[in-house]
Amino acid sequence: MKDFIIKGHILYSLDPNTIKSCPDSCLVCLDGVSGGVFSQLPEQYRDLPVVDFGDKLVFPGMSDLHMHAPQFSFRGLGMDLELLEWLSTYTFPEEAKYQDLAYAERAYHSYADHLKHSATTRASVFATVHVPATELLMDELERVGLKTYVGKVNMDRNTPAYLAEKSTAQSLADTEAWLCETKDKYEHTKPILTPRFTPTCSDELMEGLQLLAEKYDVPVQSHLSESLAEIELVKKLCPWAKNYGDAYDRFGLFGGKTKCIMAHCVYSDEAEVARMKENGVFIAHSPESNMNVIAGIAPAKRYLEEGLNIGLATDVAGGSHESMLRAIMHAVQASKLRWRLVDDSVSPLSFQEAFYLATVGGGRFFGKVGSFEEGYDLDAVVLEDSGLDHPQELTALQRLERAVYLSDDRHIFAKFVRGKRVL
Ligand code: GUN
Ligand code: FE
Repeated sequence: MKDFIIKGHILYSLDPNTIKSCPDSCLVCLDGVSGGVFSQLPEQYRDLPVVDFGDKLVFPGMSDLHMHAPQFSFRGLGMDLELLEWLSTYTFPEEAKYQDLAYAERAYHSYADHLKHSATTRASVFATVHVPATELLMDELERVGLKTYVGKVNMDRNTPAYLAEKSTAQSLADTEAWLCETKDKYEHTKPILTPRFTPTCSDELMEGLQLLAEKYDVPVQSHLSESLAEIELVKKLCPWAKNYGDAYDRFGLFGGKTKCIMAHCVYSDEAEVARMKENGVFIAHSPESNMNVIAGIAPAKRYLEEGLNIGLATDVAGGSHESMLRAIMHAVQASKLRWRLVDDSVSPLSFQEAFYLATVGGGRFFGKVGSFEEGYDLDAVVLEDSGLDHPQELTALQRLERAVYLSDDRHIFAKFVRGKRVL
């Protein structure tokens, strides 16, 4: 079905402060793209087939700008350590298991199925250093129909022997072979260069990745200024860098020509923020993860107000759950604590703003994504909230806010990715 109508209570952001609510309305889908939302269907669309969702809520699919597929297996476990200790105690041993393809298959099959049933329609995903398991993950994500970027991770220093790549040259050769193998292989799944973070990536590795980014025109994703101990480590490893961001920028891996996502940015200084803005770096704000690994609270509201590219992320398994609905809730809650306890000059995020970040903000990384305005890719989530009963009528907007706070992804009834129903 190329052209059709979705009927329901339709909601989407017009700007960071405004969610438009269109009760009992028609969302026109024309070859994967929105033709607009109408309370009265225009004559020209009268003959199109209708998928009628009745009283259910319909809102744009969400973009998870940062998550780790191999960590899904230990989500909700090991929440007692700070970032660097958490990585060496829980994360690296778990990621080493993806050397074993049978393990990877079990874990990634379950991960992809969970993502299929979530509100997420787009995601940027870390795999592990292992090429065969990374390709298996790409197969799984292609199977469930989400549009994703997937990264084979690079790490050639400060990594335990059981996970480290054999050499810098081997890491780069494996990455280039993987890029060639996968860049045109899938309809929905694309490779993204993934130096894990500066502490585990030598200058030589970064130089090689810059050449690959230019040669194959692929984007890049990494972590930035997440925790204070990590920033101290980067200062020691890269004494020449003006700030942590500069340790990527020096190698052309910080936006500009190469599209780029940086996760966290909790402690970015003024110069780092200015450079991210200048270069169009996307910030993946991951509030639940920042709490779990005791990193801090990123000034998401400030980034939004100052016009930086920013979206939301679950950062599974720093974040315990793949739900972007929960990420919206956590973004609002964390911003309130930051305002009260850290800096009262940056006001909290509103629900509307956090919803905007989860849809339009992150969607921008993937193109015209995250809205139902005419011309946007038609990614839509249909939510059945009748189980969340209430003694009186609620507006569609109230229902949406409540669904974010009370719901889990089991209430997601249907999902469309670029006009194709995947759930
Ligand atoms: N920094 C480097 N690797 C990771 C990771 O796996 N998770 C988080 N939250 N931060 C990181
Ligand atoms: Fe992460």
